[in-house]
Amino acid sequence: MSSRMVLRCTNSFALSQPKFNGCFFPLIYHINASALTRHVPATALSFCQLQASKLHDSQVTVASDVRYGGKQIITVDSPLYDYILSNVREPKILRELREETATMRGSQMQVSPDQAQLLAMLIQILGAKRCIEVGTYTGYSSLAVALVLPEEGHLVACERDDKSIEVAKRYYDRAGVSHKVDVRHGLAADTLKSLIQNGESCRYDFAFVDAEKRMYQEYFELLLQLVRIGGLIVVDNVLWHGRVADPLVNDSKTLSIRNFNRNLMEDKRVDISMVPIGDGMTICRKR
Ligand SMILES: C[S@@+](CC[C@H](N)C(=O)[O-])C[C@H]1O[C@@H](n2cnc3c(N)ncnc32)[C@H](O)[C@@H]1O
Repeated sequence: MSSRMVLRCTNSFALSQPKFNGCFFPLIYHINASALTRHVPATALSFCQLQASKLHDSQVTVASDVRYGGKQIITVDSPLYDYILSNVREPKILRELREETATMRGSQMQVSPDQAQLLAMLIQILGAKRCIEVGTYTGYSSLAVALVLPEEGHLVACERDDKSIEVAKRYYDRAGVSHKVDVRHGLAADTLKSLIQNGESCRYDFAFVDAEKRMYQEYFELLLQLVRIGGLIVVDNVLWHGRVADPLVNDSKTLSIRNFNRNLMEDKRVDISMVPIGDGMTICRKR
């Protein structure tokens, strides 16, 4: 299994609710009774211990804003994540691709099996036939999509790295889905612009964004032209290993994703749902 980073809500002992870039920012804190004894005052500790004991010593995260009614969500630690993975129905060909990719540089970039399964299910629910992927790497997510596309289905896979494409194509062949995948070698934004120029606006049902983080807004604007009303644009890494929620982290990739997320909140052109799976994925439905 490769070591793709999965967001874990840990070590954010925030018992206040600061403003963040001028906006209210509901912080979360992590319940771990032994650690909390070192960090929080007695009143807060008794509340937290109560919450933790209710959940049989499992680790949970609680919304610190009282307006969320002490809402608890589960914290995914390694044993629990192993359990989640043991409940993923990963096709053999995907497992083999994942295992081969695990030996390669950048293997942590591929989506996790649970994410790939969710992407495949979205394709099936949508009845999608025409798809686009921005950032294909060795093909794990695109193969998951291609496997559930109908025979006449079509997936444009954008990737700039020829070595990664070589691996992806080998697996599309082995899986018998090569006829569904149109691999475009080059910069993804150029490929998307060429699709628009070729009159393919509103002709796609589904898009998945998983390439250069600083380009997310540009990919999104182009994909919004290419996807039909009711179609989906799914964006990966929107939680960026939790850095988006840390006001002290302001590198260019974090800022880009944070800005992208903030813009999406205001964007009336789409319905959105941010899902804490893998490194966080936002599902956008074009209105
Ligand atoms: C996170 S990986 C994609 C992982 C893939 N979705 C999977 O699940 O296996 C990102 C990929 O995007 C590619 N990439 C980054 N910037 C790109 C760009 N501007 N145009 C095309 N591909 C790009 C990288 O070469 C890399 O293979």
